[in-house]
Amino acid sequence: MVINHLVTLNTWNLREFNRFFKTVDEFKKGRFMPHMNKIITNLFYEPSTRTSSSFYAAAKKVGADVISINNVNYSSVAKGETLEDTIRTLACYSQIIVLRHPEIGAAKRAADISPVPIINAGDGAGEHPTQTLLDLYTIYKNFGKIEDLKIAFIGDNKNSRTVHSLGNVLEKCARVYYCDDYSVDNIPEADIYYLTRVQKERGSSGSYELTKEHIDKLPKNCIVMHPFPRNEEIPQWFDNDPRAKYFEQMSNGLYVRMAILYERL
Ligand code: NCD
Repeated sequence: MVINHLVTLNTWNLREFNRFFKTVDEFKKGRFMPHMNKIITNLFYEPSTRTSSSFYAAAKKVGADVISINNVNYSSVAKGETLEDTIRTLACYSQIIVLRHPEIGAAKRAADISPVPIINAGDGAGEHPTQTLLDLYTIYKNFGKIEDLKIAFIGDNKNSRTVHSLGNVLEKCARVYYCDDYSVDNIPEADIYYLTRVQKERGSSGSYELTKEHIDKLPKNCIVMHPFPRNEEIPQWFDNDPRAKYFEQMSNGLYVRMAILYERL
């Protein structure tokens, strides 16, 4: 049997993205499909607010129950258990495992031995495909498409897994600019500005701040995205600007994750 893991989006094509967006639309319109007696595990080896709580809410909304392991120090991981043994254990009690782990490739390692679908909720500085699906869905809702657009990634492009996953998809169908030097003076003209915080926990340093002067230079019809959490990259006063889409991303995350779970339960 083929297990429907979600470790990367590298094999998805435009047709699959568009099909997936239609399913998300159904959930956004209020589709409710109860999955009784199903359980998903949220297994988080790293901090999370949006990903873990939206997967929790999404599971409940598709009728599933949730085992939440949000602090692995209170699990047998603290006794030296391997990732593989932890996955095999939780696969005995749940139908899907949502995994966030500090090591690149951890989701692939888990998928290699797991009898139930592994959803990669972030593997170190590697990938974050479910964030990418909600980012793409937000782009799709704002532009009616995800292809033939211009996106500028501004911030910690080297160590941000959200940038890696989204960049990998958009490089195939859009114009992608990576602005690595934290300098806002040479921001290219784009449809989408995707900002990220400095990933200090992955060895990155420096800081980045969009000032009023920079914001004044942004095109009127662009959108500004951020996976959050933010530090000082985007000032809070910008939140009411119609171009700020980060709260829309968060909100879409629920429906996107409902669709991801629904398709695997
Ligand atoms: C991101 C992550 O965990 O990679 N957060 C998220 O899931 N929305 C971004 C980050 O931590 O900077």
